[in-house]
Amino acid sequence: MSSAGPIFRDKDKLLPRYIPPTLLHREKQIEFLYSFFGDVLTKPSQVRPRHLQIIGPVGSGKTCTCVRFGERFEVQAKKLGVDLKHLHVNLRLLGGSRVVLYRNIVQQAAPEVYSTSLSAEELLYQLVKQLKEAKKYIIFTLDEIDYFLNLAKDSRIIYDLTRLDEIAGPGEPCGLLGLIFTARSKDFYKKLDEAELSSLGRVPLEFERYSSHEVYDIIGQRASEGFNVGKVSDEVIEYVADITGGPTVKGDIRYALDLLLFSGTLAEHEGASRVTAEHVRRVVSRTLPSITTEDVVNLPEKGKLVLLAVARALKSKKTPYASLREIRGTVGVVCEEHSVKVFEDVEEVLEDLADRGIVDVKSLTEVGISGAPVEELSAFLDDLISRVKESIA
Ligand SMILES: Nc1ncnc2c1ncn2[C@@H]1O[C@H](COP(=O)(O)OP(=O)(O)OP(=O)(O)O)[C@@H](O)[C@H]1O
Ligand SMILES: [Mg+2]
Repeated sequence: MSSAGPIFRDKDKLLPRYIPPTLLHREKQIEFLYSFFGDVLTKPSQVRPRHLQIIGPVGSGKTCTCVRFGERFEVQAKKLGVDLKHLHVNLRLLGGSRVVLYRNIVQQAAPEVYSTSLSAEELLYQLVKQLKEAKKYIIFTLDEIDYFLNLAKDSRIIYDLTRLDEIAGPGEPCGLLGLIFTARSKDFYKKLDEAELSSLGRVPLEFERYSSHEVYDIIGQRASEGFNVGKVSDEVIEYVADITGGPTVKGDIRYALDLLLFSGTLAEHEGASRVTAEHVRRVVSRTLPSITTEDVVNLPEKGKLVLLAVARALKSKKTPYASLREIRGTVGVVCEEHSVKVFEDVEEVLEDLADRGIVDVKSLTEVGISGAPVEELSAFLDDLISRVKESIA
């Protein structure tokens, strides 16, 4: 797919998965991470692993800050002759299984000892042994720990991962230099006991949601990379920033990026010479900040199929709610269309979609899409359906 055209210079620069080289309004936080972990590189074999929590609302830059920090820290380590790797594990994408998580970690950090026949405990043991032998070090980010704890209802991973040094034995390096946990709020504290909580590190680094001013700077930078010169005015950027920094969107940069991308696509589609505030207004009326494109893309396969079925069921009924029975029926059709085997656990998948704030399950006869705009329901559903379909393809 070519991403350049009359309006766009490079659409990919507007996707959330792109992380610009400099993170405006998050460089201080990266500095903080440096000072928090920095000196572990001087004596890596002697330090105990450090743990840090990062708490901040959706789209406040937690993930991209950790990723950028990790990259720079790897470079710094190399300069000092330390073989260090930053691992980033997104628990939302990985699901709620402890052994799947450890397999993923071992696959990334010590592929030599990876085997599917190892138990969770054996995986960790092998990981530590291998790192120690090879004199390799890791620092890793467990992204969205709150989501994992909610789904898995199993907090053993905190216990396991914060005690890797015990596997290595007294005074021995375990290879792990640092752990960063991220979460959207502190609500997950309720799921942990005192000991687990204190092992996460005492003082969280808190990310404030981005203000309109900050969003303005950030998306101004992104727009200059994504759009051709003169195609997006300052007024448009300001408008997107005001909406994003406001009380509904609460600073979620992903939504701002969606607005820019969709408004630009709409302008291009209409053959307009540039993006106007009116394009943005029209996109706003048919999108929801709680369901950004990345939320859709990141859904597991079944989640996408069920979401598609919900949207289609609502569309054919022209009402804000459909029943579980109707959704099941539509799931059957959707699966057939996509040549996927029909599945039975539709209710569980709906529950996960509800946990993600995408659907609203009021009762077995009332399933809707959280906050869907009633007046623009049909246009909204069309947009959503095409986005889900694109992500399945
Ligand atoms: N300061 C920034 N400068 C440029 N782009 C940014 C900045 N902060 C966020 N973004 C963009 O927004 C995307 C979403 O941010 P990020 O994934 O880091 O948010 P998050 O806090 O991890 O959200 P969530 O709680 O949903 O996981 C990033 O991938 C990046 O493209
Ligand atoms: Mg994140």
